[in-house]
Amino acid sequence: MKLGFIGFGKLGSAMVENLLKHDIKVVGWNRTKEKMDTFEQVIKKDLPFKIWEEGVDVVVLNLFDSKSVKEVLFGENGLINDQVKNKIIIDTTTNHYEEVLEISDRVIESGNEYIEAPVIGSVVPAKNGSLVVLAGCKKVLFDKYEHILSLFGNKIFHFEEYGVATKFKLINNMVLGSFMAVLKEAINMAEAIGLDRNTAINLLENGAGDSLVLRGKKSKVLNRDYTAHFDVKTLLKDLDYYYEMAKENNYPTIISSMIKEIYRALEKNNLGDKDFSSIVDELY
Ligand SMILES: NC(=O)c1ccc[n+]([C@@H]2O[C@H](COP(=O)([O-])OP(=O)(O)OC[C@H]3O[C@@H](n4cnc5c(N)ncnc54)[C@H](OP(=O)(O)O)[C@@H]3O)[C@@H](O)[C@H]2O)c1
Repeated sequence: MKLGFIGFGKLGSAMVENLLKHDIKVVGWNRTKEKMDTFEQVIKKDLPFKIWEEGVDVVVLNLFDSKSVKEVLFGENGLINDQVKNKIIIDTTTNHYEEVLEISDRVIESGNEYIEAPVIGSVVPAKNGSLVVLAGCKKVLFDKYEHILSLFGNKIFHFEEYGVATKFKLINNMVLGSFMAVLKEAINMAEAIGLDRNTAINLLENGAGDSLVLRGKKSKVLNRDYTAHFDVKTLLKDLDYYYEMAKENNYPTIISSMIKEIYRALEKNNLGDKDFSSIVDELY
C-alpha cells in the first residue's frame, strides 16, 4: 500500500515510523524539509500537490492547527486543485471545531472525500500504532478506509456527523491539561511535606492519581526530562479552541479557564516548546 503523508512534526514523524514498520510506502511533504531527512525510505516531494504524481489515492495530514490544514489543502501548491478528484484526505490534526466543518465541506465540494480523524495518545503510542482514533465521516467511507485508520490506532470510534470527533478531542485535551496541573500540585505538595518525588509518584499511582496521564508522564517528571512529546503551545491551542466551544455553548469554564491561563503563563515564560508536563517544575 502507498500513502501520502503531510506533517512530519513530533506526532506525524512517529506515525510515519509506524507506517514504515508495516511496509507501507510513504510519499511525504513537510514545510521544513530537514525533518524528513531521517526517513530514508520516504519518497519526498517539494510541494504538497506533487504527492499525487506518485499515484497515491489517500493522503494523511498531521498538521499544527486548522490554519495550517487550510494552507496545505487549499493554498498555493495545495493538495486540492481543479484537476484533483476522487482522492481521500484523512486529517489527524486536532482542528478547530468549526473550521473542521468548513474544511470537510470544501474538500467534498472539490470532488474528493474527507475523513476527520483526530487522535488520542502521543508519540509513544503513535510509534506502535496504539493511538485512539476518533473518526468522523459517512459510514460507507469509514467502512472502506477503516483498515488505514487501524494502522494508526487499536481503538477506533466512528461518528457519522462531522465535528463530533473534534469536539470530543478538545474535551479530552481539557481533561489532559487539567489533570496534569492537578498532578503538579499533588507532586509539589508531597515534596513540600518531605517526600521524595519517587515516593510521591509511587503513592499517587496507588491512589487517586493513578491515570493514563501519570503513567504516560511519570518518567519525564522523574527524570525532569521535558523534551516535548506534546508541547505547551500545542496544548494551549487546544485549550483555546475548547474555550471558544464552551462559550458558544454557553457552558461555564470555571476550571478549564484557570488551567488554560496557567499554560499561557508557561508559554509566556518561554516554555512553549517544552513538554506540557514541565508544569510540574515550573511557575510555582
Ligand atoms: N504531539 C502529540 O502528542 C499529539 C497528540 C495528539 C494530537 N496531536 C495533534 O497533532 C498535530 C501535530 O502535533 P505535533 O505535536 O506533532 O506538533 P508539531 O511537532 O509542532 O508539528 C506540527 C506540524 O505542522 C506543520 N505546520 C505548522 N504550520 C504549518 C503551515 N502553515 N504550513 C504547513 N505545515 C505547517 C509543521 O511543519 P514544520 O515542521 O515546518 O514546522 C509540523 O509538520 C496537532 O494538531 C496536535 O494537536 C499531537
